[in-house]
Amino acid sequence: MPVIRFNGGEDIEARAGHDLLGPIMASGQAIQYLCMSGSCRMCRVRIVSGGEHLEPAHPSEAERCGPDGRLACQAILLPGDGVVVVEQ
Ligand code: FES
Repeated sequence: MPVIRFNGGEDIEARAGHDLLGPIMASGQAIQYLCMSGSCRMCRVRIVSGGEHLEPAHPSEAERCGPDGRLACQAILLPGDGVVVVEQ
C-alpha cells in the first residue's frame, strides 16, 4: 500500500489509483488547493522522494511544475508498497 509523508507529518496510507491531494485532505493535514482539476496550480508540491511510486506527469503538468514538482490533485499513486515524501 502506498504511503504519503506530507510536510513531515504522520504517514498517510493511501490506495493506488488515488491522487495525492485526497488522502492528504482526508488526513486533516493542511494543504493549499482550489480547483482540484489541474488548473489553478495551488496544490503544487515538491516530491522529495518516492516519485517512482507515482504515475508519470502529463507533459503539460511537467512543464508547469518543473522537474521535482507535481500537482497533488493530478499525481496518481501506483500500486505497490512505497513512501512518497512530499512538501508544500
Ligand atoms: S487544486 Fe488546482 S491544480 Fe490542483
